[in-house]
Amino acid sequence: MSRIKKLTDDIYFVGVNDRHTHLFENMIPLPYGISYNAYIITDEKTALIDTVEISFSEQFIENILLVLNGKPLDYLIVNHMEPDHSGSIKMIQRIFPKVQIIGNSKTIGMIDGFFGLTENMYEVKDGDILSLGKHQLQFYLTPMVHWPETMMTYDTTTCTLFSGDAFGSFRALDGGVLDSELNTELYWDEMRRYYANIVGKYGVPVQKALQKLSGIDLQMICSTHGPVWTDNIADTVAIYNKLSKYEADRGVVIAYGSMYGNTEKMAELFASYLVDYGMPNVLVHNLSKSDPSEVLRDIFKYKGLVLGSPTYSNELYPKVNELLAKLKTRAIKNRVFGCFGSFTWAGNSVNMLKEFGAEMQWDCCQVSIDQKMAGTKNNNTEIEALAKELCSKIRE
Ligand code: FEO
Repeated sequence: MSRIKKLTDDIYFVGVNDRHTHLFENMIPLPYGISYNAYIITDEKTALIDTVEISFSEQFIENILLVLNGKPLDYLIVNHMEPDHSGSIKMIQRIFPKVQIIGNSKTIGMIDGFFGLTENMYEVKDGDILSLGKHQLQFYLTPMVHWPETMMTYDTTTCTLFSGDAFGSFRALDGGVLDSELNTELYWDEMRRYYANIVGKYGVPVQKALQKLSGIDLQMICSTHGPVWTDNIADTVAIYNKLSKYEADRGVVIAYGSMYGNTEKMAELFASYLVDYGMPNVLVHNLSKSDPSEVLRDIFKYKGLVLGSPTYSNELYPKVNELLAKLKTRAIKNRVFGCFGSFTWAGNSVNMLKEFGAEMQWDCCQVSIDQKMAGTKNNNTEIEALAKELCSKIRE
């Protein structure tokens, strides 16, 4: 049973839903699935834009054959080589041996590296135009959004941008394909989670890409994951712009590790003081339970970050250390930072957190709390002082 969708007179969605895979890149949970989007333009020449993850190639090929309805496939445009999009390239070449594969020099090297394919490659450079007849496709090289070979394809005829991973989201397509057919409220946070976990390291390249695209008329954005955007283009671009500039909303993420519950009690008390001081959007994550992909999403979303850790073998609690590595990889900027922790015989975690905040060049609170065992009533005063300082810095 095929599931294609006509987007314009001659642009079709031929992608697939994946509701089977548990972990994207073998790490990131997919509780609501994911879609691998691909598109066909039928004109004097036909072009397929991107493919899908190999496990879904049977459905994908059925979709393509249905749209082509006996026509040949002239071009396969490869915007991105990560295997969730390039996985079916070899299969496409087997079924359509005359298809010309279009990519930039890096793409072509990767197609050889991943699949050993070198025949029928056509290299394009930034700004090159390919005519399909009525449709003129212009290529924009957008390296590191999300890999070095990443590019976008713009159909100047319909003002449609085939954007690769950019503007994509986790969550399979529930019935519709266009944003106007879907409950978009379910996708915004999954878009942020996708960005934070997959593209989040590449804020500067994303900004360069957005600047490159800033002059073009966008009527439709066809990403490789999630809804096709027509009604929410401005919001979609604004979210990407904000995330890639590391700008965030007023709110605080408290992420802590706790072995015996002492650091956890500090986190709970701290959260309640934040609310007392009028902070909206207070989110508390126990790092032994919350999924790291959601913690990262929330850290990208909110301005304040407070980390709590016990001292563990004279180091940070391992779950806290794992989070720090992810934050460092993504070079998260512009955060207001606070920290606290607890220890039994010798404290070191708070010093290490303070050093981390300084290394990240965050706006660090003066107050920090290093609590011995279960603490004393004085700690409440210090925790309140940290909440007050953090709120005041976020207000500034
Ligand atoms: Fe959806 Fe970078 O792949």
